[in-house]
Amino acid sequence: MSDRSCLTIILAAGEGTRMKSARPKVLHEIAGLPMVCHVAKAAMAAGGGDVAVVAGRGAEDVGNALAASGIVAETFIQAERLGTAHAVLAAREAIARGHDDLLIVFGDTPLVEPGALGEARRLLGAGNAVVVMGFRTQDPTGYGRLVERNGRLVAIREDRDCSPQEKAIEFCNGGLMAIDGRRALALLDGIGNANAKGEYYLTDIVEAAVAAGFPVAATEVAQDSLMGVNNRAELAEAEAAWQRRRRRALMLDGVTMTAPETVHLSHDTEIEPDVLIEPQVFFGPGVSIASGATIRGFSHVEGARIAAGAEVGPFARLRPGAELGEKSKVGNFCEVKKAVIEPGAKVNHLTYIGDARIGANANVGAGTITCNYDGYSKFFTDIGAGAFIGSNSALVAPVRIGEGAYVASGSVVTEDVPDGALAIGRARQTTKEGKGSELRERLAAARRKAGK
Ligand code: UD1
Ligand code: CA
Repeated sequence: MSDRSCLTIILAAGEGTRMKSARPKVLHEIAGLPMVCHVAKAAMAAGGGDVAVVAGRGAEDVGNALAASGIVAETFIQAERLGTAHAVLAAREAIARGHDDLLIVFGDTPLVEPGALGEARRLLGAGNAVVVMGFRTQDPTGYGRLVERNGRLVAIREDRDCSPQEKAIEFCNGGLMAIDGRRALALLDGIGNANAKGEYYLTDIVEAAVAAGFPVAATEVAQDSLMGVNNRAELAEAEAAWQRRRRRALMLDGVTMTAPETVHLSHDTEIEPDVLIEPQVFFGPGVSIASGATIRGFSHVEGARIAAGAEVGPFARLRPGAELGEKSKVGNFCEVKKAVIEPGAKVNHLTYIGDARIGANANVGAGTITCNYDGYSKFFTDIGAGAFIGSNSALVAPVRIGEGAYVASGSVVTEDVPDGALAIGRARQTTKEGKGSELRERLAAARRKAGK
C-alpha cells in the first residue's frame, strides 16, 4: 500500500425504514457482524486509515458496534438527510485535517472488497482528483449513470435526472468513491441541490472536478460486490453472497467441504487447510479449526478452538470456551461448554461437559453429565489424564477425578476420586430368584380380573 494518508468516511445515515426495525439499518448483521463493520474492515484492509462514520438515528450504537470490532471511528451526525454530498460534509471537521486520500463508502454495502477500494486509491495516487467505482448492467434503472465523453468520465447523472439517451447507458455508479483529500472540501462545497430530488448529490463532484480541470476516472467493479441492502430480503441475499464468497475462498485455501452450500460461516471463522467439513454445519463467531480436523454433519460450533486431527460430530454442539486438543473426539449428541478436552480424550455419545477439563486420553462414557450448576453458581469438574468415566455417570461439581481413576457406570460422583482409584456411587443391585415370573403371573391375573 502507498504511504499516502487516508480518511474513510462511511455514510450510514440511511433511514432504513424498509428494514422495519428498531435497529439502525447498518447494524443488521452479515455472518454475525454488523454491515457497517464489514465495510469498515474492507476499508481498513485497503489502508483506509482514519475512519469517520456519518450516522443519523442510533449514531451512538453505530459507533459502539465499530468499537466492538476494534475499529476506532469518529462519529458524525447528519441530523437532516439532505443527500450524499451533505452527508459527507457532516464529517467536515475530519476532512479539513487534510488527508491525501478520501474514501467514501456506504454502510449498507457490506460486500465491498478491499481490492476495489485499493485500486481506487491507486488511481488517486496516479493523479486523479475523483475516482468512481462503477459496474455494468443490462438493467441500470435506478442507478446513477456514468456519462463519458471521448472515453473519459465527465459526469454522473442520477436516474431521475437522465435524458432518454443517458437512460440507455449501462455503465452505472456503484456509489463508492475516492476523492483527493486536499481538494475535497472545495469541490463538495460547490455542489448544489438543483435536481429532481432536491438533494445535495455526491455524484455531482465529478462534473465539478471536470469543470475545474482536474482529471477524474472510473474503475469497473463486479456488481455483486456493490450490492446495497434496503430490506431483509436483500439482507438475506447479501448474506448468501457473502457465505458463497467466503466458502469458496476457504476451499481454494485447502478446506474440503462436501456440500458447501449447507455450511454456514461466521465473519471470523478460521479454518486451516486439510480440514474436512461435512454437510449441514453451522459456525457461530469465534471458531478456529486446525489442520486435519473433521467436523461431521449437523454440528453447531461456536466460540470453540479445535486442534489438529480432532473429530467433532455428527450432531455435536460446541459452545463458547470449548477447546479440543489434538486428536480428541466429541461425538454425536454431545454438548461441550467452557471446557478443555485434552489431546486424545474421547467424549463420544450423549454427554454434557460444562466447566471442565478432560485430561489427555481420558474416556468419557455415554450419557455422562457434569452437573456444573446448582441454580446459583457454576462449579468445575476436573478429570485426570487416562481416567475412565463409566456410562450414565453424573459428576457433581466441584469434583476431581484423579489420573487413571475409574468411575463405575451409573455413578453419582459427589466426592473427589484419587488417582488410580475406583469409585462406585450407586445403589447395590439385588437379584431375587424366581421373583420375575411370580410378578408376571400376578400382573396377568389382575388384568384378567379387570376383564381386559
Ligand atoms: C446512490 C448514488 C447513485 C448510485 C447508487 C448505487 C448518489 C446521489 N447517488 O444512489 O448514483 O448509482 O447510490 O447504489 O450518491 N445517505 C446518507 N445521508 C443522506 C443520503 C444518503 O447517509 O442524506 C447514505 C445512505 O444511507 C446510503 C448511501 O448514502 O448508505 C446512498 O444513499 P441512497 O439514498 O441509497 O442513494 P441512491 O439513491 O441509492
Ligand atoms: Ca441505495
